[in-house]
Amino acid sequence: MRFENKVALITGAGHGIGQAIATKLASEGAKILVVDINPDQASAAVSALRDAGATAEACITDVSKRADVEAAVAKAVELWGKLDILACSAGLMDREPFLEMTDELWHRVIDTNLYGGFLCGQAAAKQMVKQGSGGRIVYVASNSGIFGGRGRAAYGASKAGIINLTQSMAIELAEHNIYVNAVAPGPTLTRPEVQGELMGSAQTRMPLGRFGTPAEIAGVAAFLASDECSFTTGHTYAADGGFTVAGLMEG
Ligand SMILES: NC(=O)c1ccc[n+]([C@@H]2O[C@H](COP(=O)([O-])OP(=O)(O)OC[C@H]3O[C@@H](n4cnc5c(N)ncnc54)[C@H](O)[C@@H]3O)[C@@H](O)[C@H]2O)c1
Repeated sequence: MRFENKVALITGAGHGIGQAIATKLASEGAKILVVDINPDQASAAVSALRDAGATAEACITDVSKRADVEAAVAKAVELWGKLDILACSAGLMDREPFLEMTDELWHRVIDTNLYGGFLCGQAAAKQMVKQGSGGRIVYVASNSGIFGGRGRAAYGASKAGIINLTQSMAIELAEHNIYVNAVAPGPTLTRPEVQGELMGSAQTRMPLGRFGTPAEIAGVAAFLASDECSFTTGHTYAADGGFTVAGLMEG
């Protein structure tokens, strides 16, 4: 019960990795504000959390809109009096070949993944500084922010930005006892219906030879969001089946 009496705001908690982080933190006592742009997914996620005995509410939010993000932080405080943990998982993984990449795709991905991460981090940190009792911020980055990938110019740049944002925020927020870390998942099975084509090529390059599960990423995020993580800030922890350390796999 590492999160008893803690209030957590989790973006992208309507589906996938964000939902798994919400489930994990709630299972250890956190009250959860499910922040997502998709109302159906958000309300289904809240119902599942409540069915499991957790305290949870939804907040329909576009993380790329400052007013939405500030309203989400205000809602957590209005509901439960404070904010202890922010986990940012809301993100778009849209791909397009570099030579054909449109301004529209570039801005959509960067606005959601990177600017959204900045907005959420800043709004949460301001509240945590006001409270004066520290806090935990966890970003969901990606392997794609560590190395290049086909079709991932915008996506990879957004996640590389999140990794650096994590470092800069950690430096400026340390004096307020706010820890900022990221988990960088490798291929994780959140949408099997569209991920099938990727699985063959990715798995042959992953020492563990399989996709991760959302719960496996949530396990790392939960450590980074907990008081157990007491001497690590500004870091990105790869949870990727060994993908980022793999060189030649045969011969
Ligand atoms: N699945 C993977 O293989 C993988 C690998 C590495 C990193 N990631 C990262 O993990 C995070 C979650 O990925 P996932 O696979 O769980 O995705 P997902 O699509 O299953 O879930 C993302 C959630 O974010 C929400 N969302 C999208 N745009 C939003 C916005 N503007 N405001 C608020 N909510 C918004 C969606 O409605 C959805 O519920 C993303 O940041 C992604 O880049 C995923």
